[in-house]
Amino acid sequence: MYKIAVIPGDGIGKEVMEATLNILEALDIEFKYEFGDAGDECYEKTGEALPQDTIDIVKNADACLFGAAGETAADVIVRLRQEMDLFANLRPVKSYPGTNALFDDLDFMIVRENTEGMYIGDEDYIEDKSGNITGATAKRVITEEASKRICDYAFKYAKKNERKKVTGVHKANVLKKTDGLFKKVFYEVAKNYENEGIESEDFYVDATAMYLLTRPQSFEVIVTTNLFGDILSDEGAGLVGGLGLIPSANIGENRGLFEPVHGSAPDIAGKGLANPVAMILSAVMMLEYLGEKEAAVKIDRAVLKVLSEGKIVTGDLGGNSSTMEMSEAIKNRIN
Ligand code: NAI
Ligand code: MG
Repeated sequence: MYKIAVIPGDGIGKEVMEATLNILEALDIEFKYEFGDAGDECYEKTGEALPQDTIDIVKNADACLFGAAGETAADVIVRLRQEMDLFANLRPVKSYPGTNALFDDLDFMIVRENTEGMYIGDEDYIEDKSGNITGATAKRVITEEASKRICDYAFKYAKKNERKKVTGVHKANVLKKTDGLFKKVFYEVAKNYENEGIESEDFYVDATAMYLLTRPQSFEVIVTTNLFGDILSDEGAGLVGGLGLIPSANIGENRGLFEPVHGSAPDIAGKGLANPVAMILSAVMMLEYLGEKEAAVKIDRAVLKVLSEGKIVTGDLGGNSSTMEMSEAIKNRIN
């Protein structure tokens, strides 16, 4: 039995969560769900976007499923990542059939540092003598400890998943101190995995942005700092058919939170139009994290079947099926 914290959140977060819990029912695994409130609606009701009760539920669970928040997303998901020290953000770039993917042969993982870099939110205004704002600054923090932890995670991931190469991405030619340190640590960690047959290479982030378009098949695992990882992973999402398909995992020492990359999609919320696959594949990542490999493969295969059949297709992929029709179709193909 696993205790799972469930935070549906706002907009389509609630719809894709319902669709996902429906599918988990088809497994021979017992889940005990603890529901937590968070997001815009929660803020309107209680004055808090992320109540302490919800944080406690997540802290006491074996894993957490998170749907999406709306305008309060930064106060919810960024804070949860910090509170739980979820230092690794995993974003797979994997082609599925029937999805308008630009490439049909991609399967690599982007490992993004999740706790520091540009997203510590340390910004200041620059003011002139009369107090007029004339500019602003943002501080970017890269530490040896966090760099080592994320690079080590990426190489461990490669080893566990039989990947042969890890690519470190940075801008050390310009950001000499911060990314100079990241690059140095990357190669120190890489040394420990040479004997395991895992290669390492590094590229500048701008070159990587191009290689993702010109030869994305050459990547196996990419490891990078927070902001670069955020941008490159959205580029990755664009390569394989868009936000309705891309799951993610946030991993800490003994914790995992799993969420689609997309937001609350107010433009389609409440209409049953959302593609639940991103959330469903997030649950697949959760099952892998919990060690339930067989169940993860079962759901992944069922998703693959439904997408390649092309009969039940949501609007983002050019069809007109509903969120729950997609969920039922996948559920029916699990066993
Ligand atoms: P979004 O991901 O919600 O939507 C972008 C576009 O993709 C929209 O046209 C939407 O309809 C479409 N889309 C997204 N997911 C889809 C799905 N599963 N099926 C079909 N179409 C889908 O991003 P946007 O519009 O920038 O932000 C909307 C709200 O979501 C904002 O309030 C934002 O703060 C929040 N947000 C929350 C995130 C989180 O909770 N982790 C992440 C990103 C945005
Ligand atoms: Mg992003």
